[in-house]
Amino acid sequence: MTSVVLGVSAGIAVYKSCELLRLFTESGHDVRVVPTRDALRFVGEPTWAALSGNPVTTEVWESVHEVPHVRIGQSADLVVVAPATADVLARAAHGMANDLLTNTLLTARCPVVFAPAMHTEMWEHPATRANVATLRERGAIVIEPAVGRLTGADTGPGRLPDPAEIFEVCRRVLAGRREDLAGRHVVVSAGGTREAIDPVRFIGNRSSGLQGYALARTAVARGAEVTLVAANVTLPDPAGAKVVRVESARQLRDAVLAAAEHADAVVMAAAVADFRPVRQSDTKIKKSSAEPDPIHLVKNPDILAELGEVRRARLEAYAAGAAAAGGGRETGEGLAAAKEAGADGPRPRVIVGFAAETDDVLANGRAKLERKGCDLLVVNQVGENLAFGTPDNAAVVLTAEGGSVEIPRGPKEDLADVVWDLVAQRLA
Ligand code: CTP
Repeated sequence: MTSVVLGVSAGIAVYKSCELLRLFTESGHDVRVVPTRDALRFVGEPTWAALSGNPVTTEVWESVHEVPHVRIGQSADLVVVAPATADVLARAAHGMANDLLTNTLLTARCPVVFAPAMHTEMWEHPATRANVATLRERGAIVIEPAVGRLTGADTGPGRLPDPAEIFEVCRRVLAGRREDLAGRHVVVSAGGTREAIDPVRFIGNRSSGLQGYALARTAVARGAEVTLVAANVTLPDPAGAKVVRVESARQLRDAVLAAAEHADAVVMAAAVADFRPVRQSDTKIKKSSAEPDPIHLVKNPDILAELGEVRRARLEAYAAGAAAAGGGRETGEGLAAAKEAGADGPRPRVIVGFAAETDDVLANGRAKLERKGCDLLVVNQVGENLAFGTPDNAAVVLTAEGGSVEIPRGPKEDLADVVWDLVAQRLA
């Protein structure tokens, strides 16, 4: 049985950690809860003891014969501190040992995950930034807090992520974490766009966002900085991803292109509406008229094709600049293109598309990959309860070089991991 230490420090989000504790115990982990003294002002010792089935102490002076300040940390397979306040991050970063939790952090040799929660000002303060950087340098995993409503009326970064999402990060850490996307910035689009007909109606599609969210979650777990552009998704935010919410295809385009400027890879998992109504009514369309007016449609921008086009133009400018420089004819534009491209070449360096096909799956996929100028295309066969709204998926990934990788039916997370394997290979 894996042994998990759940450190709990004094933030209002402590109540969410009760659910995190249940997720651990219900999946068969032995959990020892180590709260700070003040955390017990929010949720008391009996709750932690009853839910964990283990004794709960905050001090090193209790059960001294068992040497808890050393033993708890030494025997843990994982320590997760949720919520981690600014104070506990500071004490951990400075190696202090003034309660049982900080003693445990010093004696633990297993992976340590911090899930910070605090007001935005505290999170953004240079002191907290420096403490987080120190902890990360030492190998701790510090999950980015979620953005949203904080205690009181204010909103901003500082919320504790959803307990199920923190649990997912921990589950992956326990399973053995790969860090092959560390230092990379990736953009994932997810969900399905909505094109307004009037203020209450829209043209939409069945995409749930599950595959895109699995991609974002797995990329965070592999160390990437993740921007998730979510179109009408109702799932909890993946812990650690920066989520940008959009509704329509044109909003999705603007958000993806802006984020892609500095991205190593872009994965377009969103189902984008190809068309939108020419006109959107400002008021609700009434059924009073005898026959409804037809809805005329106009084409939406093809975001994936545009990403490919932008990169192709940058590559050409870069190549022209390099050629001119090689021939002793350095041009201003050439140098500017080379500078913009950076040491690794034009961005985004890897572009991944998704395609849902009902027939002639591979031939249609191959033609689509070429048409859109992407590096990888994940082709799904729609039907037989696959793809939309289900936890499972099966696909073939086509590569720009003409190769293909088959992904058997399985959880969307597994498919996501294969996509990131291929992306990581191309970035290496
Ligand atoms: N896509 C996009 N912009 C659009 C339409 C699609 O960026 N306006 C992206 C999707 O996110 C997906 C890929 O293109 O990654 C393929 O989407 P799909 O709907 O299969 O392709 P279409 O171009 O719409 O082709 P068709 O409808 O003819 O199959």
